[in-house]
Amino acid sequence: MENKKRIMSGMRPTGRLHLGHYFGVLKNWVDLQEKYESYFFIADWHALTTKYNQTDDLKDNVKNVLLDWLASGIDPDKSIIYLQSFVPETAMLHIYLSMITPKNWVERDPTLKDLAKIMKDKQENMSNLSYGLFGYPVLMTADILSFNTHFVPVGIDQVAHVELTRDIARRFNNIYKSEYFVEPQPLLTKISLMKGLDGNKMGKSFHNDIKISDSEEVTEKKIKTGITDRNRIRKDDKGNPDNCEVIFGYWQIFGSENDVKEVCDGCKNATMGCAQCKQKLAQKVNETLRPIREKRMQYENNEKLIREILYDGSQKARKKAKEVLDGAIDVIKMYK
Ligand code: TRP
Repeated sequence: MENKKRIMSGMRPTGRLHLGHYFGVLKNWVDLQEKYESYFFIADWHALTTKYNQTDDLKDNVKNVLLDWLASGIDPDKSIIYLQSFVPETAMLHIYLSMITPKNWVERDPTLKDLAKIMKDKQENMSNLSYGLFGYPVLMTADILSFNTHFVPVGIDQVAHVELTRDIARRFNNIYKSEYFVEPQPLLTKISLMKGLDGNKMGKSFHNDIKISDSEEVTEKKIKTGITDRNRIRKDDKGNPDNCEVIFGYWQIFGSENDVKEVCDGCKNATMGCAQCKQKLAQKVNETLRPIREKRMQYENNEKLIREILYDGSQKARKKAKEVLDGAIDVIKMYK
């Protein structure tokens, strides 16, 4: 493990994950864990930045995210899987980093700017923004620098945060005349091909998602609601798969080349109706997800094991984070 480069990434515990997460994020992590020393964490402190007053589901959400990760193939023997609040070293590093981070660097953060706009639209006062939420880009910096991470696999929306992390790392190195922190680079994840059932981006709050943990019946029901070529009204109308972004899009993800050709022909020649096409698709999707769902079920029934995984991973993460923190404390020249 020692001479591999390190990566780290995380997710807020928002509950059960959907296929957008699976194809957009998790599959990528599963590949990356073969090549890198990998840290993946559940960002429960980050969840509190916005949901500090909605904590009833927090425990369940952490558990569900963990189950979805494990089911998807994030392997605790290959990656270090941890819970943010189990690694207090990150919070300590955050303190030191917060001292050297100019306030206007944080204010520049695009996510905060978006948030300011939302609050303004809702006619809420920006001064209601909590200190923790305001400082969240610095906490994210602490997450990343805690392992002197080389690469951060993230989507395009998070790149600005990684840029800030680089700026803070560089500033630390300049101030304390060291080359202590690695300036981490974003490892851009391709945008997920997986659209929501209504054609918008797949997302929990849009009620257009298929969950990794949905049953086969629910999956089938949901797929039946997927939009198709709007110009194909009756079964004997000839359809155009290019105008069927959702269902035909799913075929391209789940079907073999042959399957894709078959439904394409069936649609264009009006020999296969949308209902039949969706039925077949649901079967395909369920077949693909079956091993993942079975694995999830096994973990779900073994509470002790999943606790152990999170606890062990967090112990390993702490060890590395402590090493990095201790080094930083030396570089700062704190009394010891
Ligand atoms: N900000 C990320 C999100 O909202 C989650 C996150 C927190 C993260 N800390 C991180 C991602 C560190 C990568 C690295 O999705």
